[in-house]
Amino acid sequence: MASITLNHLGKNYTPEVTVIRDLSFDIKDGEFMVFVGPSGCGKSTVLRMIAGLETVTSGKLSIGDKVVNDVHPKDRDIAMVFQSYALYPHMTVYDNIAFGLQIRKLPEDEIKKRVQEAADSLGLNAYLDRKPKALSGGQRQRVALGRAIVRNPSVFLFDEPLSNLDAELRVHMRAELSKLQRQLKTTTVYVTHDQVEAMTMGHRIAVLKPCGSDPKVSNLTQVGTPMEIYDTPTNLFTAGFMGTPRMNLLKAKISDDGHDVLYFGIRLPVSKQFEQAALKFKGREVVLGIRPEHIGAANEVDWKSDTSITGVIEILEPLGHEVVVHFELQGSTVSGRLRSHLSLPRPGDPITLQIKTEAMHLFDPVTELRLS
Ligand SMILES: Nc1ncnc2c1ncn2[C@@H]1O[C@H](COP(=O)(O)OP(=O)(O)OP(=O)(O)O)[C@@H](O)[C@H]1O
Ligand SMILES: [Mg+2]
Repeated sequence: MASITLNHLGKNYTPEVTVIRDLSFDIKDGEFMVFVGPSGCGKSTVLRMIAGLETVTSGKLSIGDKVVNDVHPKDRDIAMVFQSYALYPHMTVYDNIAFGLQIRKLPEDEIKKRVQEAADSLGLNAYLDRKPKALSGGQRQRVALGRAIVRNPSVFLFDEPLSNLDAELRVHMRAELSKLQRQLKTTTVYVTHDQVEAMTMGHRIAVLKPCGSDPKVSNLTQVGTPMEIYDTPTNLFTAGFMGTPRMNLLKAKISDDGHDVLYFGIRLPVSKQFEQAALKFKGREVVLGIRPEHIGAANEVDWKSDTSITGVIEILEPLGHEVVVHFELQGSTVSGRLRSHLSLPRPGDPITLQIKTEAMHLFDPVTELRLS
């Protein structure tokens, strides 16, 4: 096993375009770290740099206590699983899993033992003699994982390995992979743009964004446990990216005495955690963040609030156990949550909902950072 350290890591594919800038954080020994971020933000690039499949333009990359910037991929003791895993169609499942070990000329009984163990943990025992074409998508995916596991590497790198699977299988494999990682305790970096995967699988999450052309801006927006990231987003990007439906972000103002947030005529008391910060922002603009689960009908919510808002319903999204309601409030669309009813209001109807004001987040519109 091994830790991974990214130290001011940078990557340019061409001299003009910086894809990764100033990326610094540690991945601990045995940790399951998830990289999440929008398409094109550089997740795969960082993973491929760790694997040694892309060069490092600047900074230092270490595995364990060894700087590996110039170490050949095959000497990094890493196994990588991609979204498009190519199995050898003419080989059985057994041989597909064993192939890498056979090339490295491990003794046949050692190979057999390792393949058997992997097949056990992946539930592939019944399929070892089959060819890939006689397997379902999920079974094939597990063969690709088996191939990585038998190598018993120090680090697993996964690049969206579940994105080819249907929804049900994804949920199943998500749990299987988490379980497997808990058993093996192998340091794992897992790339996804699916935030449910990120929230449910990661010990910690690194939220990345495109770094753009500003030389002061890094790709890293926040790194922390799933709940740290969800409950305390340190900046507007993370706040808006993590969570479905997404957090409502509204332009508001701090009152002149610093005690309230003002959104048009609505007065929302500043919560304890922002008390000090709001005093420094008296009379200034802020971005008010509130998650949809903190906006609900008075007779349905489990919090007490004197703050209600009234808007006009635009769209209702019934999800079975709940209904996401999008309504118009002072020119912005705001999302809240209702319990499912037999008779729901309809688009065009007015709706009055309560806000859980102590769950509000406040951000500086200029720096885009959480007020602190
Ligand atoms: N070989 C390359 N040459 C030039 N630019 C590249 C190369 N590979 C990737 N890029 C660019 O680098 C940026 C980051 O790409 P990367 O594949 O790392 O993104 P990603 O976060 O994995 O996206 P996705 O979620 O779509 O897989 C993109 O803008 C991409 O166009
Ligand atoms: Mg990618």
